[in-house]
Amino acid sequence: MSAGTTPKIVLPGVKHVVAVASGKGGVGKSTVATNLALALHMLGRRVGLLDADIYGPSIPIMMGIHETFDPNTTSFPLDRYGIKLMSMGFIVKPEQAMIWRGPMVHKYLQAFLTQINWGDLDYLVIDLPPGTGDAQLTLTQSAPLSGAVIVTTPQDVSLIDARKGLEMFRQVNVPVLGIIENMSYFIGADGQRYDIFRSGGGRKLAQEAGVSFLGAVPIDPRIAECGDSGDPVVHKYPDSEVAKIYIELATVVAAEAVKGGAREALPGLAL
Ligand SMILES: Nc1ncnc2c1ncn2[C@@H]1O[C@H](COP(=O)(O)OP(=O)(O)O)[C@@H](O)[C@H]1O
Ligand SMILES: [Mg+2]
Repeated sequence: MSAGTTPKIVLPGVKHVVAVASGKGGVGKSTVATNLALALHMLGRRVGLLDADIYGPSIPIMMGIHETFDPNTTSFPLDRYGIKLMSMGFIVKPEQAMIWRGPMVHKYLQAFLTQINWGDLDYLVIDLPPGTGDAQLTLTQSAPLSGAVIVTTPQDVSLIDARKGLEMFRQVNVPVLGIIENMSYFIGADGQRYDIFRSGGGRKLAQEAGVSFLGAVPIDPRIAECGDSGDPVVHKYPDSEVAKIYIELATVVAAEAVKGGAREALPGLAL
């Protein structure tokens, strides 16, 4: 598919649209997207979070919204912890198998972007589905992205797929704001740092690809617990070390998004 063929959706009130992407599932993309959104909010920004993972929405659980809503009578986006939210999981129960084909997914994503009143936002964070399939490609082509953040874990299997993600964004002329290495290390009760997987792969990949390395998030059981209990760690423990890491990341992402947005992508020209 050649870049620049899909008309861009216009979101007049939204200053920066940032996609959080990963080559693989399970690397912590939704966790990063959620905590980044909350960290940006803590920095005083107006923030929305769009869950574009139609088949496996996890934002409802991570933000503690368990009920479904009738789209005919509900005004979306919802609001939780000051973040504007939309997810397929607000319309159908997560356990309901969704066997839609690509065009249907595309229609929903378009509707989530265009038929929802996002209002005035500084940042709309999009939690993209994992991988580099059609849904990702059409969305990244049609959404007015300032840029993409790629989440990887340090292992080679994840890095190989992160590289594919980088390539996809290059193809559609979306600036890659940088790479975040999640589950990078673990700080034990003894205060020692343990590199459970081999850390540093994210930084190496960023260097190779000529993009920024945005930072590393440690493995922290509280991150998982808070995600499961619907109160993300940045919100529940704003003074924790790990919250500080997300806030630093948010500061860097915010700055990069401003730069990325200013960079005009030229159709057909690799960045
Ligand atoms: N840094 C981390 N430390 C501990 N657990 C994490 C971390 N990042 C993510 N997790 C957990 O790993 C699992 C997968 O994360 P998730 O964000 O759903 O991944 P993805 O969206 O990439 O599929 C979740 O249970 C989440 O709570
Ligand atoms: Mg996810």
